[in-house]
Amino acid sequence: MTQNLILTRPDDWHLHLRDGAMLEGVAAESARNFGRAIIMPNLVPPVVTAAQALAYKGRILAALPKNSTFQPLMTLYLTEQTDPDDLASAHASGLVTAAKLYPAGATTNSESGVQNFNKLQPVLERMAEIGMPMCVHGEVTDADVDIFDREAVFIDRILDPLRRRVPNLKVVMEHITTAEGIAYAKSAPGKLAATITTHHLIINRNHILAGGLRPHYYCLPVAKRETHRLALLDAATSGNPCYFLGTDSAPHADSAKESACGCAGVFSATNTMSCLAEIFDRAGALDRLEGFTSLFGPKFYELAPNPDQITLTKGAPIKFPSHIDTGAGPVTLFNPGIDLHWMVTD
Ligand code: DOR
Ligand code: ZN
Repeated sequence: MTQNLILTRPDDWHLHLRDGAMLEGVAAESARNFGRAIIMPNLVPPVVTAAQALAYKGRILAALPKNSTFQPLMTLYLTEQTDPDDLASAHASGLVTAAKLYPAGATTNSESGVQNFNKLQPVLERMAEIGMPMCVHGEVTDADVDIFDREAVFIDRILDPLRRRVPNLKVVMEHITTAEGIAYAKSAPGKLAATITTHHLIINRNHILAGGLRPHYYCLPVAKRETHRLALLDAATSGNPCYFLGTDSAPHADSAKESACGCAGVFSATNTMSCLAEIFDRAGALDRLEGFTSLFGPKFYELAPNPDQITLTKGAPIKFPSHIDTGAGPVTLFNPGIDLHWMVTD
């Protein structure tokens, strides 16, 4: 018996589309199922001004398939030099939806990120005033903090003090990976929320490290131990609107991943909805999937949900390609390591 699931068209609240040949190669993968996505600004050089965001948006729209209605929601990359007026006018005009905070050195192309968080005070106060959300890569970068502890330490040392200095700022904790992140994200409804990736709901650190090093599972924040994955799954399927989908789909050419110093990033745009339907189904929570993928994100960002729907159909295991070809080289698709039975059919 076939089973259908109809959902309000989902959005991706954290996506890397890159630029140039990579953008051309991956744009359609997100546009196929998603209505909108928050586009990460960590290009080289980063998207720090409204003019750069406008130009980048143009390149994204040009890379979409003809007749696509996919909407890129642009972000600006915060630096210690960000001009509050430029930020505010980009937000007021509707060009830019949010600003992204990268601690300097935390991840791919974050060299221009913030070292001294106090310097952001005027920008953050302005963002709070105009209701512009801040998306945060929440990991400290101190060499003396173990990489598996960096998210929890960031909450204590940086995020909580920052939020006390600017209590009205709306903050999205991006790609949370720990029980500590889950607990903190629900502590201020409407002001604080968190995105959860597809891959962090499926893999734990053993997938990266046990039985051989698997670079295509390496991303930042790095996947944690199984207890944290289970806590993430509980959070995503809880129906609490402070948790919603941000895939953090982050394509790198295979040659850059399969290297002595491989890049961080998991590319999951192509099969994310099949992966999520599978794990929500296995968790007995299919009725909670639409909130997570399609309703809670717009609610936090004060946008209407997408007006149309997608249909997923359950059947025999689906074969996704192992990789997609792009002009920047092949990009390996996230392999969930479990059979996927749900396919987006409409
Ligand atoms: O794994 C990651 N890849 N984490 C990030 O924060 C950045 C991303 C990228 O841009 O490749
Ligand atoms: Zn990211």
